[in-house]
Amino acid sequence: MNLELQSLSWAQAASAKTDALVVLVAKAARPETGLIANMLAQAEKSGDFSPAAGQCMLWWKPPGLTALRLVLVGVGEGRPQDVRQAVTAGVNALKKSKVQHITVCLQAAQLPHLAIAAQAADDANYVYTATKPSAKASAVSKLVIGVPQAAQAKSAFALAQAQVAGVALAREWGNRPANHATPEHLAQAAKQLAKHARVSCQVMGPKEVTRLGMGSFAAVAQASAEPLRFIVLEYKGAAASQAPVVLVGKGITFDTGGISLKPGPGMDEMKFDMCGAASVLGTFEALAQLKPAINVVGLIAACENMPGGKALKPGDVVTSMSGQTIEILNTDAEGRLILCDALTYAKRFKPRAVIDIATLTGACVIALGNLRSGLYATDEQLAAQLQAAGDQTLDLNWRMPLDDEYAEGLKSNFADVANVADRNAGSVTAAKFLQRFAKDFPWAHLDIAGSAWKSGAAKGATGRPVPSLLAYLTSVSALASTPAKKASASKPARRRT
Ligand code: BES
Ligand code: MN
Ligand code: ZN
Repeated sequence: MNLELQSLSWAQAASAKTDALVVLVAKAARPETGLIANMLAQAEKSGDFSPAAGQCMLWWKPPGLTALRLVLVGVGEGRPQDVRQAVTAGVNALKKSKVQHITVCLQAAQLPHLAIAAQAADDANYVYTATKPSAKASAVSKLVIGVPQAAQAKSAFALAQAQVAGVALAREWGNRPANHATPEHLAQAAKQLAKHARVSCQVMGPKEVTRLGMGSFAAVAQASAEPLRFIVLEYKGAAASQAPVVLVGKGITFDTGGISLKPGPGMDEMKFDMCGAASVLGTFEALAQLKPAINVVGLIAACENMPGGKALKPGDVVTSMSGQTIEILNTDAEGRLILCDALTYAKRFKPRAVIDIATLTGACVIALGNLRSGLYATDEQLAAQLQAAGDQTLDLNWRMPLDDEYAEGLKSNFADVANVADRNAGSVTAAKFLQRFAKDFPWAHLDIAGSAWKSGAAKGATGRPVPSLLAYLTSVSALASTPAKKASASKPARRRT
């Protein structure tokens, strides 16, 4: 869908050439004259409309307006959640009409939530078609965001556009079934991204990964007919001297559980086990469009977790790239086994921060449900930045603990570490396992098992946590480019001994 920004007061909106106007109405501070304001006043007077969040009123052939349809939609108190709810309701109200061109009008008070509004509109219009030709792609091809003064909203709009594109790519790859989203398909998608300026991509296969000593990653892939891929993406938006942020995505294109086989019901949803990888692809799409002044590396470990004659067995011991040996007590705890080697690989970039993104544990879904991703961090600033990035985009995160006592259960009599502890605090013990491989840099881990996709009738990928990641990366690039920081960064930092 094409996104556009326009200067549109309510008065100008009345004569805007569009198939439908969606006008957000706050409780306070709104235009009082003009056609739309008059219609609103009358509708409120007659009790047909109130600006409660998400409340909608649709006119067909509104008198005097150029657009064939007008939707008034309330934003209540104007909280970000209210704006999202309002846009979703407004766009959904037009679902049955054959509209191709929608104009969503925001008021000044809603400008801080421009990206949330654009995202809500795009989400409401998304239709999955890749393997369902009978599904009609959304007819909406153009979405205009109307604001009182476009010049003031330019940078917010650029961010919104990039985010929407990034989420769309992540959601699309997340949704594709495992036979249409193999490790090699993900590698091809990454290579496509490298066609953008500033983006490059390198793809490794089983031989290179074994040569690197990634015995843990290779072990997970060893029973699959699909060869593993290790994908290295680089976005270079700043001087080479600036340390990059490294994003690490879990790319299990299908998780059967391996020999520790998962139960049958619902197993189809394990095609979503590459949503961490998809979020890295989506974030790179967004970076390529937005071109922020920052360096970012994306690492994707992609393979299937299959049972079979060559499969890893409970009790097997593998040697990770870090040199630590791992006793595999449960082959279904495979995400941490591929991520640990990618984390070790991340060290070579001398990163300023490493963030891994993974549909890692069912336990995280039990703890946080679908609303918030689990956020773990060894660095307070990184934690605060990711928390803030999530709050700002409504792609919410929740800080989880990393006390050392939680690692107790990972002890093994036969290796340096076991890949599982008991059932208690399963999301935390998984993070404690990863932390052993993330000692050399500020590290954060997002457990997106609950947030990456929806189950039930609305089954489908969400494209999360691309909004958080993008907001974090742009905040880092803004920090790095403030003059004060530049001056101190040019002084050689004192080495810690
Ligand atoms: N991909 C799953 C985690 C998962 C399960 C995400 C259900 C979303 C919904 C992961 O590989 C896994 O199987 N984890 C196990 C770990 C356990 C064996 C310690 C789990 O959560 O059951
Ligand atoms: Mn698993
Ligand atoms: Zn998994």
